[in-house]
Amino acid sequence: MIVILGTGGTIAGTAKTASDGVGYTAAQLRVEDLLAAVPALAGHKLEAQQVAQLDSKDMDFATWQRLAVAVQQQLDRPEVSGVVITHGTDTLEETAYFLHRVLAPAKPVVLTAAMRPATALAPDGPQNLFDAVQVAGTPGARGVVVAFAGRVHDAVQVRKTHSYRVDTFESVDGAVVARVEEGSVRTVGRWPAGEALGLAHIAAPTDRWPRVEIVMNHAGANGAVVRALRASGIDGLVAAGTGNGTLSVALDTALREAEAGGVRVVRSTRCDAGPVMDLPGLLPSAGALSPVKARIELILALLAEA
Ligand code: SIN
Repeated sequence: MIVILGTGGTIAGTAKTASDGVGYTAAQLRVEDLLAAVPALAGHKLEAQQVAQLDSKDMDFATWQRLAVAVQQQLDRPEVSGVVITHGTDTLEETAYFLHRVLAPAKPVVLTAAMRPATALAPDGPQNLFDAVQVAGTPGARGVVVAFAGRVHDAVQVRKTHSYRVDTFESVDGAVVARVEEGSVRTVGRWPAGEALGLAHIAAPTDRWPRVEIVMNHAGANGAVVRALRASGIDGLVAAGTGNGTLSVALDTALREAEAGGVRVVRSTRCDAGPVMDLPGLLPSAGALSPVKARIELILALLAEA
């Protein structure tokens, strides 16, 4: 049995006309409707549950918390071999990383999505959903992965890399996990593994979760944003630096002041891929995590200290 959890996104989006690929409204169709649009799934043992219905640009802590609990509940059922989550593409990599760190499941948890709404002339959602179910049912598959446009990415590597193209996701700094070809899953990399933080780690009411923001280095970065954020009350900051996480002198000064004032600061990079080296004397590095994933990591670290 595979359980499909719906959260919204373009995969569940509708437009007034089939030729409209951008002026649509996300999160309109229920997950049962998405399954009904894939007759090839008719013979599969599936269950569906709507956990949320949102455009993933509006993803929030409360939905993450609810989703993590819902996924764990399904994974705990012996008859469930895997879970598929339908999601928007915009913050899919964040949800994937969050679930990976919190649950690190031994069974597959497969996120999928679409770049074109369900009403498009050639929607990509039905194929992606079909592929995701195949991945969730693959013996040996495990961990949080993203099945999209014929490729399976792990939660740590995956990033949305294009605003419009239907093959928008990439494993930016490593190999893909698998390929899905005509419904058959060919493993070419490693299925993700890790140590789960567990649901107790994220059990605090979400209005008490730490506030962590992202600031970017750029020409003329003067640190004013950091000072404004400190004044507004902040627990952590991720600096999306240039290149190897480098920061203008003024931004570096403002971040060090914030750190000295009790704000946790890590350095990531605004580059599309690659790690930030930890060098003596510099603010701590976020390793190979993108700024949005470094933010999740910092939130989880601060939750442990709360
Ligand atoms: C969303 O992220 O919910 C909207 C955009 C998309 O799914 O591609």
